[in-house]
Amino acid sequence: MKHGNLRLSALRFRFPGAPADLLAIEHFALAQGQTLGVRGASGAGKTTLLHCLAGIESVNAGSILWGDTDIATLSPREQTRWRQQNLGLVFQDFHLVEGLSALDNVLLPASFTGWRASPRLRERAGDLLSRVGIASPGRRAELLSRGERQRVAVARALLFAPRVLLADEPTASLDPENRAIIGELLCELAGEHGATLVVVSHEDSLLARMDQQMDLRGGTLQEIVPTLLRGSAKPDALRPDAERHPPSSHAEHGSHPSHV
Ligand SMILES: Nc1ncnc2c1ncn2[C@@H]1O[C@H](COP(=O)(O)OP(=O)(O)OP(=O)(O)O)[C@@H](O)[C@H]1O
Ligand SMILES: [Mg+2]
Repeated sequence: MKHGNLRLSALRFRFPGAPADLLAIEHFALAQGQTLGVRGASGAGKTTLLHCLAGIESVNAGSILWGDTDIATLSPREQTRWRQQNLGLVFQDFHLVEGLSALDNVLLPASFTGWRASPRLRERAGDLLSRVGIASPGRRAELLSRGERQRVAVARALLFAPRVLLADEPTASLDPENRAIIGELLCELAGEHGATLVVVSHEDSLLARMDQQMDLRGGTLQEIVPTLLRGSAKPDALRPDAERHPPSSHAEHGSHPSHV
């Protein structure tokens, strides 16, 4: 079973004390190596959805299968181990550690796994930083601009070439040039490792790079036709069947590689 195959069933999530479910997804599937873009209004639950997929938030009901592992039923300790072995996560607010250099922030996941940062790993971290355009890897996190912090966070998520890459608005703080670079890098590196990539974004051109696009609305995932994305790079190439299969009014169904 491929670890990067995602299957959601009857998922329900509600914050304690909230009057209603924030997420209510009956079924959704994404094959290993596929890329998904998710957009939605502020407060729609996009970050919460990514945190559920990562096992950081516990769902109230349903299953979140990555391969044959239901992350929703693992103990916190097992969830941590699963994340260490499988996941790269770009947090919306970066989660960089001040006082540490950009390079040491990228290497941080190694310290959590008890791995020593071998020269090879340091070299990979430096390489990733240069690919995201950080010229001063020794600069401390608190001295970096917001956009530079965002790029360090992206490099960190890629350190262990994860099978699953979740990125929460990874280009929100960047100028157009860096947005394009980071968007391309995410797709390229995910592709190099056959990773499953889920990107939350408000940016149409980034969403259009993904194999499929969904709108998180009313707690459900609804399919977006790529041709409706403004400024999308190659919408027709992404969805040659878009004309023949317009989205239904409630298109919350699983996808399959043959759909894209
Ligand atoms: N710990 C919490 N306890 C209660 N409610 C929360 C908590 N965290 C988030 N929320 C609420 O859940 C809703 C969804 O939040 P979430 O951060 O997932 O939205 P989002 O779609 O990522 O928004 P944005 O685009 O602004 O990042 C919001 O109304 C938020 O106020
Ligand atoms: Mg968010």
